[in-house]
Amino acid sequence: MTSPSRTFFVTTALPYANGPFHIGHIMEYIQADIWVRYQRLRGHTVHFVCADDAHGAPIMIAAEKEGVSPQVFVARVAAGRKAYLDGFHIGFDHWHSTDSPENIALSQSIYRALKAAGLIDVRRIEQFFDPVKGMFLPDRYIKGECPRCGAKDQYGDSCEVCGAVYAPTELKNPYSALSGAQPELRASDHYFFRLSDPRCVTFLNEWTRGTDRQGAPRLQPEVLAKAREWLGEAGGESTLADWDISRDAPYFGIEIPDAPGKYFYVWLDAPIGYLAALQAHCARRGIDFEALLADPATEQVHFIGKDIVYFHVLFWPATLHFAGRKTPDRVNVHGFITVSGEKMSKSRGTGISPLRYLELGMNPEWLRYYIAAKLNARVEDVDFNPDDFVARVNADLVGKYVNIASRAANFVTRYFEGRLAPLPGSPDDAHERRAAEVAAEVEAAYEAREFGRAIRLAMAYADEINQYFDANRPWEMAKDAARRDALHEVCSRCLRAFHRLTILLAPILPATAARVQAWFATPDLRWDDLGVRPGSASPARAIGRYEHLMTRVDAKVLDALFEPPAASAATSAAASAATPASAAAAAAAPAAAPAAAPMPTITIDEFARIDLRIARIVAAEAVAGSDKLLRLELDVGEGRTRTVFSGIRAAYEPARLVGRLAVVVANLAPRKMKFGVSEGMVLSASAEDPSAPGALYLLDAHEGAQPGMKVR
Ligand code: 2FM
Ligand code: ZN
Repeated sequence: MTSPSRTFFVTTALPYANGPFHIGHIMEYIQADIWVRYQRLRGHTVHFVCADDAHGAPIMIAAEKEGVSPQVFVARVAAGRKAYLDGFHIGFDHWHSTDSPENIALSQSIYRALKAAGLIDVRRIEQFFDPVKGMFLPDRYIKGECPRCGAKDQYGDSCEVCGAVYAPTELKNPYSALSGAQPELRASDHYFFRLSDPRCVTFLNEWTRGTDRQGAPRLQPEVLAKAREWLGEAGGESTLADWDISRDAPYFGIEIPDAPGKYFYVWLDAPIGYLAALQAHCARRGIDFEALLADPATEQVHFIGKDIVYFHVLFWPATLHFAGRKTPDRVNVHGFITVSGEKMSKSRGTGISPLRYLELGMNPEWLRYYIAAKLNARVEDVDFNPDDFVARVNADLVGKYVNIASRAANFVTRYFEGRLAPLPGSPDDAHERRAAEVAAEVEAAYEAREFGRAIRLAMAYADEINQYFDANRPWEMAKDAARRDALHEVCSRCLRAFHRLTILLAPILPATAARVQAWFATPDLRWDDLGVRPGSASPARAIGRYEHLMTRVDAKVLDALFEPPAASAATSAAASAATPASAAAAAAAPAAAPAAAPMPTITIDEFARIDLRIARIVAAEAVAGSDKLLRLELDVGEGRTRTVFSGIRAAYEPARLVGRLAVVVANLAPRKMKFGVSEGMVLSASAEDPSAPGALYLLDAHEGAQPGMKVR
């Protein structure tokens, strides 16, 4: 199980900085993050970076619509990233932007190298011009029918139906997506990367069939098959077309050296953004970026979706190679995420809003576990099915894995002061042998990115441990003082197995693993602590006080997650107030709720009789015996807290409320209720039926408002 230390440079695809993350982004990041955490647990060094893909016409146009510069637009989107990344425990070392000095310098230098290699051509081409908008039309703003398969309403650069990549002028029946006008052809000089050059074709034929440093193919079989088709390997001619890498001003991008008014097409500088992000990360850590990249031992690994394979297995390795740089060792391609079998829209995402998931207080590790359980090394779509989600989390994760700890801890705490029995003296102990076998299998599964298999193996092992516990009937052993040693051994074996399972699952459940580590008071978890290599031993010696590690999913919370689009769009718009709504999100904005009938006029004096105050929620809990109420403890700046019962249980998980500000009616007469006295009322906005999913929203105040401040 030992291997020499490895160094990785890992990226996920750079998301367009045109709106918040959707669940598809989160799935990709979780997949890569699991793999990265696994490598780190093995003791390897990983530089894991990502960045906003900032350039291009769509962002320029969206910014213009909002009346801000593209830089401001992108900065707003970037400011919203952290909540998602932290929320789902995605541990990038650095998050950068393609609109950065590093990327400008790298892109221009790579371009110069390609030019020096004779791989850049300038050609006068005709392109579409929108006579209404008075500008050359970017590819994505020309729509029409795919020249290959005839699918309607396809964009000007590639077909979402058959995957064809083409020039916009090849579209049939084109129209401007900006104005609807029929575009005119006008001539302009464009810069091309000569992908059809025999040197490129020869190089790519070799590169695509290459292996990584471990000797495994660098491309998955289905990706290689696609690449060979593009390269004309099926006996036909190479179909590689030269690549138009320039765009005319006005364009939000990087200027092409010695070519006034010309900018790099966003897809030229986007992957170079991987290097820019690494460079910025290296600068912060005092690492020599060029040396790290030039080191043949550094393994460069990209995680991407199946829709951007062409860019990553043809253009990207070719630009790197002919610029004299290292090429990727692996490109790991995943499928899309569907929800109950339905395909996601790339711009709008699916019915699952990642932010709403977090706002509802759903445990991010449930999603990490579920996604991992469905992932394998093939380019297959992953389906999120709510019933399956509840079943896997509750029955497997909590019912099998967590269950071991809670059952065995009870006896070890009660009878043995939390100390585990010594490890078996014999190296040939059957339990230890079995643990070693499982660890080796799980390791192979992670290496191969077969996360679903890793989980199946771990859960089968958890089953064995639970069966071992049941077969020994420790609850009966405990009644017999003569069997204390046997009881100790059984429970200690179970807890050691639990500790090992935690290491095996740590890449997927980092927060739970950290709690388990603290519970056993062991040093940082390491793969080597699986204690299964000759001479190594499990560090688990004792446990602290057991606190429940993970709750089950309440199926009802999934109803709230899948509330009708109007309500959830309103929620995410509110939650990401700092983030500009993308054009697509704006298009999906909810229709305003029907206004309630107006009420009779009151005077300012009448309004002034209501004492509205800012309160901070210092505690919140469900009220036993009521499915509507939460008991809130409010700091209203009075040097004591007030108890307020509020009918918001359907809309809020108590833990998510703690620390938030609310607006309270402070002079409402105290009301005696079945559960206690309520000393005020918190204000919320709600639809006709406040208990319907997505129908109720607490009012809060901008951070900075102080408890006790008057609201007028
Ligand atoms: O498809 C996309 O969302 C692109 N923004 C991905 C870019 S990946 C890399 F090349 F930067
Ligand atoms: Zn097509």
